[in-house]
Amino acid sequence: MQILVVKDYDAMSQQASHLIAQEMKKNPCAVLGLATGSTPIGTYKELIRMYREEHLDFSRITTFNLDEYAGLDTSHPNSYSYYMRVEFFDHINIKKENTHIPDGKIKDLNMCCRYYDQSIEQAGGIDFQLLGIGPNGHIAFIEPDEALSVHTNIVTLTKETIAANSRFFSSPDEVPRQAISMGVGSILQARKIVLLANGVGKAQAIKNLLASDKVSTQIPASFLYLHPQATIIVDEAAYSLVL
Ligand code: PGA
Repeated sequence: MQILVVKDYDAMSQQASHLIAQEMKKNPCAVLGLATGSTPIGTYKELIRMYREEHLDFSRITTFNLDEYAGLDTSHPNSYSYYMRVEFFDHINIKKENTHIPDGKIKDLNMCCRYYDQSIEQAGGIDFQLLGIGPNGHIAFIEPDEALSVHTNIVTLTKETIAANSRFFSSPDEVPRQAISMGVGSILQARKIVLLANGVGKAQAIKNLLASDKVSTQIPASFLYLHPQATIIVDEAAYSLVL
């Protein structure tokens, strides 16, 4: 696992967007795995700037998002579907039919999970997967547990994640208790993986992750140690407890 320590959030976003743009220029039909949350917003902003000012072309790009809250309609302002439109897709020339986010409102969530992994496979697999990390070490909504699912599945959010994500909702009670999330196997099949972490709120998670090279289901991000092309871009604040 390669670790890049950069000064701050802007430097992290610059670096991540540069790597994504590089991937897209090498392969204009690339399949990108995308993340939500506050971490990648700067990366998306920079990619939007590159689209506007440097003609970065998304017309043949396909995307798959990591996760979605169960029970939220795509029009709900807290759904990841809504987030992706507002923060990214509405501002670039991506074809909406090439963007994929699990459907949190579908009746048969299990079928949605199976169908999601099949769709990734049919698209040829993910070339470049962008990840954030939760304060509890989760990636996507793969929460620390005794065992982790390999495939896309329905997950129950931990108290820590509900607390961390409640900042986007009017109260913690409104945060959905379940979500659909890609599994560890779905993520590890990506050809390249870049995990972003910024701010002191992630310092303990980064310290726990880098404290040893052991893979632990209690630190889902540690599974990235098994990947041949995984990079962590971390700012100085998130790296501060490692030094
Ligand atoms: P954040 O979430 O980007 O909002 O900090 C990251 C995560 O929980 O994976």
